[in-house]
Amino acid sequence: MKVLITGANRGIGHALYTLLAARGDDVFGTSREGAGFLPLDVADPASHHALAREIAGTPLDLLICNAGQYLDRGQALESGYDPQMWADMFAVNVTGVFLTVQALLANLKLAAMPKVAIISSQMASSERAPGGSYIYRASKAAALNLGRNLAQDLKPAGIAVGIYHPGWVRTDMGGAGASISVAQSAEGLVQRFDALNLDTTGCFETYDGQVHPF
Ligand SMILES: NC(=O)c1ccc[n+]([C@@H]2O[C@H](COP(=O)([O-])OP(=O)(O)OC[C@H]3O[C@@H](n4cnc5c(N)ncnc54)[C@H](OP(=O)(O)O)[C@@H]3O)[C@@H](O)[C@H]2O)c1
Repeated sequence: MKVLITGANRGIGHALYTLLAARGDDVFGTSREGAGFLPLDVADPASHHALAREIAGTPLDLLICNAGQYLDRGQALESGYDPQMWADMFAVNVTGVFLTVQALLANLKLAAMPKVAIISSQMASSERAPGGSYIYRASKAAALNLGRNLAQDLKPAGIAVGIYHPGWVRTDMGGAGASISVAQSAEGLVQRFDALNLDTTGCFETYDGQVHPF
């Protein structure tokens, strides 16, 4: 299976890269710095064009949109959440996901049973909305919405789309006090990706297989 993972240089993306490569999948990882990975800044359209040129003609069985940012932790409602922070995080967490799918659509269409996995978050949920982290929550909700609509549009082309909460994971983003390791998250997510098909397309699931409330 040919897989591409954005943000494969650290955190959950790196654990997915390691796990999939270890089981014998042919894995492209991307990172902003390159450094052994294919270079991709998901917020930069020119970077997407370069990646698309680099792997033109290669069938892609699974595209994992993992790269993300969480910069607004602890901001004060009265004085924080600078407009530039909104723009920067949406460029990565929302536009970045869209541009990645758009750039690699031709590769997905060359595969027999292609899939797209979008790493969103439980913080995307509108049913579970405890407040705070407005930019991150809104951006992950938008990524969820994007995935749900892509699932409809891509179904006729045979491309399944799943949206996932990876758990609260011990990474730079999740922090040392988070509940699970990157290996636990990656193992669960890979099982979810394997199970994804056109009957379940548009699903929003946790890494351990529970249906997540929207
Ligand atoms: N950790 C959690 O508890 C948790 C919970 C729910 C959802 N998530 C989601 O899971 C995904 C991975 O999170 P993580 O915990 O592994 O985070 P992380 O350790 O902070 O790693 C984030 C990854 O995204 C990459 N990235 C950020 N901005 C980018 C850009 N403009 N272009 C390309 N790559 C970029 C980073 O690359 P650089 O090294 O270049 O910065 C890094 O590889 C994210 O989408 C996150 O929102 C995480």
